[in-house]
Amino acid sequence: MIIEQTIVKIEKNYEMKISPVKKSRLDEVDFENLPFGKIFSDHMLWCEYKNGSWQEAEIRPYGKIEVSPALHTLHYGQAIFEGQKAYRMADGRVGIFRAHDNFLRLNKSAERMCIPQIPENIFMDGLRKLVELDKNWVPKDESISLYIRPFMYGSSEFIAARPSEDYVFCILTSPSGPYYAGDVKVYIEEEFVRSAAGGVGYAKAAGNYGGSFYPAKKIQEKGYTQIIWTDHKSHELIEESGTMNIAFVIDGVLRTPPLSDRILAGITRDSVLQIARSWGMSVKEEPITTYEVIDSIKNGKLTEAFGMGTAAVISPISTIGFRGNDYDIPPQGSDSFAIKVKSELAAIRSGRKEDTFGWMEIIG
Ligand code: COI
Repeated sequence: MIIEQTIVKIEKNYEMKISPVKKSRLDEVDFENLPFGKIFSDHMLWCEYKNGSWQEAEIRPYGKIEVSPALHTLHYGQAIFEGQKAYRMADGRVGIFRAHDNFLRLNKSAERMCIPQIPENIFMDGLRKLVELDKNWVPKDESISLYIRPFMYGSSEFIAARPSEDYVFCILTSPSGPYYAGDVKVYIEEEFVRSAAGGVGYAKAAGNYGGSFYPAKKIQEKGYTQIIWTDHKSHELIEESGTMNIAFVIDGVLRTPPLSDRILAGITRDSVLQIARSWGMSVKEEPITTYEVIDSIKNGKLTEAFGMGTAAVISPISTIGFRGNDYDIPPQGSDSFAIKVKSELAAIRSGRKEDTFGWMEIIG
């Protein structure tokens, strides 16, 4: 069951303190060779929750923080995050993709993890101001972007196993290159699970990722890039992939597993489905079994498989491993759905195509 959420607004006239850097580090960055998520822009947003309320937010220089060894989140993992991106538009302006949807999803995760709701104006105004201040950090090359990482964690200094009393909300930004380079080979996992019914799979909780590293490491040692998770009971239902949702084109129909409390409601996933429907494509959000996927590859009905995520964008899958065998997916040409939807998303983000969905938050 997914918890209903309420949007919290701070009533008072909300002030945000801005403490800019004395000297930017921008000229140290090699924008031609950007790794994913290793370089951080000049500023970060910082806001603390104390004595039952959110305090004044501050945009301050990015830098290290000192923490107690009894920091609550280090012991109990009461931590959640988001992933979103700002892009350089064709006319030089900067746009953030579906910013408000990330705000809503962060609060859904917060509710499940017993973290106080972040008020809309702290998230949205803070995000806009932060990106505006560091807009020169948004890569000029349209194919890469400024990755944005909002996160919240329990910051009390005690080790009793109950919810933290204090929290931090922070936003970092990182000019980043592609997450996956080259072919994406995935393996259908039938031993380990990412999430179970009634668990926290739909939340972007830090522990969902921490728990996936061991099974992911095991399949990476065998040459695969990522796991395709299956359900916790039968291991027959496809769920999602490691850092992305997954979709297939089978018999010309776009197929993806339905959302549930075990699956992260990807914003890229939703964007792809909306675009496909607007193109009149048949879309099915229905359970899909491992056997159907493998049989459809064997009999040539499965023509595409791809991952969808903020970091992963649209990542075509070249091979699916299952029970020790590899099944190759036909190479995806320029007329494939995955390639077309990827270009459509790029065109909307750059402003070359009208944003009829209202997805871009333009920063100017
Ligand atoms: C994202 O796509 O933004 C994610 O959160 C995946 C990530 C763990 C890199």
